[in-house]
Amino acid sequence: MLVNGKHYRTVWMEGKSVHMINQPLLPHQFVIYTAGDHRQTAEAIRTMIIRGAGAIGVAAGYALAQAVLEAPDAGFEGYISDAFKTISSTRPTAQNLFYALDRVSKAVKAAAGPDKARQLAVNEAESIADEDVASGKRIGELGNSLIKDGYRIMTHCNAGWLAFADWGSALAPVYFAARDNKKVFVWVDETRPRLQGANLTAWELSSENIPLAVISDNAAGYYMRRGEVDLMIVGSDRIAVNGDVANKIGTYEKAVLAHENGIPFYVAAPTSTIDWNCQSGVDIPIEERSGEEVLFITGMDNDGTLRKVRIAPDCVKARNPAFDVTPAEYIKAIITEKGIVEPKNLCSLRN
Ligand code: MRU
Repeated sequence: MLVNGKHYRTVWMEGKSVHMINQPLLPHQFVIYTAGDHRQTAEAIRTMIIRGAGAIGVAAGYALAQAVLEAPDAGFEGYISDAFKTISSTRPTAQNLFYALDRVSKAVKAAAGPDKARQLAVNEAESIADEDVASGKRIGELGNSLIKDGYRIMTHCNAGWLAFADWGSALAPVYFAARDNKKVFVWVDETRPRLQGANLTAWELSSENIPLAVISDNAAGYYMRRGEVDLMIVGSDRIAVNGDVANKIGTYEKAVLAHENGIPFYVAAPTSTIDWNCQSGVDIPIEERSGEEVLFITGMDNDGTLRKVRIAPDCVKARNPAFDVTPAEYIKAIITEKGIVEPKNLCSLRN
């Protein structure tokens, strides 16, 4: 997508370095962060400089490719195996991370010798990035068919282009609808505790001149009940074979509210987010992040300084599950690059 008239992907590789848009600084500052080795890229995933399942997957593929480039000929496999462990321990829920590590590992194992492995690892990581972009574009084209002129769409968290290499999943249909001159309006849940909705989704949509309102997370039911939401689309971090969907904490309650109010609830995700080894939502590992993310909030003050401030009493503890699971029964369909399918028919996408 364009930022100040220039096309960017969220993350890309040049030589041995991985560059990414520094997301915790948005919407206040647009800064590119450069990770010079695989450990720095892994740390950027862990600290959410880059986040969103698709973008995490692309970054993880690049990180492993970096490790393959770094690995000395003596001890080549051991170095890569250690790097694999480092990268895979960063974000446990995002299926695309494991999908990308698996693909790059297989490319390395198929290579005859370190030099060939280095070339194949980088090629595979680039293919993962290109496929991520192509999937987002196709999800946008297909999902556009669900959006009527004048629709008011609600979304949760950020499943836009910042959550992928480009285009996004939940927001891609909105971008295609807007390009088709449909009038669309987006309700943007702020998405506590890290505010991906208020910070990132609002920034993306306003950059595309798409009308929106940021709402506090607990206002969603109010607008649904008033008949002011026509459609809800969210992304996903991991999808189980039975159609249960893990997504940002708070998604489950929105799905229940949408069901109660007769609002179609869609999930948009590339098939790389489906975990074919995970039979149901209870098997999906849910990341629990630091309680600090709940107890403190970061924003820009009137002087233009980014400040982190405490919003709860000293010495209280917090719990901070990063994701929840929405049972398949609440999901009308899943929009993938291979088609729009009901959760119960997910297996038809397996090839
Ligand atoms: O913790 P994050 O920001 O990496 O989580 C991202 C989400 O949960 C988004 O809601 C998104 O739908 C899934 S990533 C495409």
